[in-house]
Amino acid sequence: MEARELDQVKPGGFEQQMRSLLNTQATGLLVGIGYKTGLFDTMAGLPPSTSRQIALSGGLNERYVREWLSAMVLGRILDYNPGDQTYYLPPERAAWLTRKAGANSLGSLAQFMTALSEVEPMVVKCFKDGGGVPGTAYTRLGQAEWADAGTQPVDSVLEVVPDVTDRLSKGIDVADIGCGGGEKLNMMAGAFPNSQFTGYDISEDAIANARVQAKAKGLVNVHFEVEDAATLGDVEKWDLVTAFFTIHDQAKPRSVLRGIERALRPGGAFLMVEVAASSRLEENLDHPLGSWHYGWSIMYCIAGSLSQNGEGLGAMWGTQKALEMLAEAGFARVDAERIESMITQVCFVARKHQLS
Ligand SMILES: C[S@@+](CC[C@H](N)C(=O)[O-])C[C@H]1O[C@@H](n2cnc3c(N)ncnc32)[C@H](O)[C@@H]1O
Repeated sequence: MEARELDQVKPGGFEQQMRSLLNTQATGLLVGIGYKTGLFDTMAGLPPSTSRQIALSGGLNERYVREWLSAMVLGRILDYNPGDQTYYLPPERAAWLTRKAGANSLGSLAQFMTALSEVEPMVVKCFKDGGGVPGTAYTRLGQAEWADAGTQPVDSVLEVVPDVTDRLSKGIDVADIGCGGGEKLNMMAGAFPNSQFTGYDISEDAIANARVQAKAKGLVNVHFEVEDAATLGDVEKWDLVTAFFTIHDQAKPRSVLRGIERALRPGGAFLMVEVAASSRLEENLDHPLGSWHYGWSIMYCIAGSLSQNGEGLGAMWGTQKALEMLAEAGFARVDAERIESMITQVCFVARKHQLS
């Protein structure tokens, strides 16, 4: 692609594009606040209402709520009737914004850039001096925010691995690498009581959280260990290994992938879920959440990996690079599968060779 083509701007000129960006940036921040304060959940259950009625229903301060409502009207998130000064959240928009929206909740995702901005001064310093930001610096990526976004059901993801649901029902050994707060592993452990699940993560806080959640759910077939995935010593121990959005965060992703291949039993499968993207920038121009993922990548993924002198793959490392690295790790066969309802995710199913 010609460099000039990449330089195209929307009709109306660059100045208008930048003004619209400033408005969108503020709208995004306020959508996150709307999610966090429960305003979208409150409004989803209300007919057209005044700011006073909305603030009362949500147990919130009217003056702040009124200003927020104005911004949401300008952001075309809410409808406004000047006649009786009422605001309304139509159900087709609520379906993307409330807690009930679950995996579809873009309202939940809107919180993340704000939460990540706590490390912005450190990231700016990294632009000048290199290095990264350790996981412990992210005090705002707390359990609540992760859990809201992590409600994505794992069952449809598991379906991309042929036979695995049957095998999980009968009973197999499963490890999840970089399990974070354990939401997905706990979900799997609850759904498949005959299988045994182990979650590994380098973060002590994440593992502590995962253990608390497992206990609260009364799960006895799951346990969690603090472990650097790059030094995993397991050999032919697991029938299924999963890794959700974590391989690109690793300092040493090549060692991690080799370790996973070694840790699988012959015929075992590795399910790696990643951001669906191309490794070529020019093929990501129309990515539905491309800028957002590049933003995440700088603020968290690359910063985390480089804080450990790592490779700094980044969230947008892309399918081509992922396939190349899975092959390099020694997997016998790799398929990349898309799930229709998950527009920004891709599932790689990598197989270890069968014993002949
Ligand atoms: C984006 S989070 C994903 C968490 C979880 N898999 C999920 O989908 O909710 C990435 C996780 O990778 C973990 N991680 C980063 N480097 C690691 C390492 N060297 N070994 C194990 N875990 C690591 C982080 O602590 C973090 O919990």
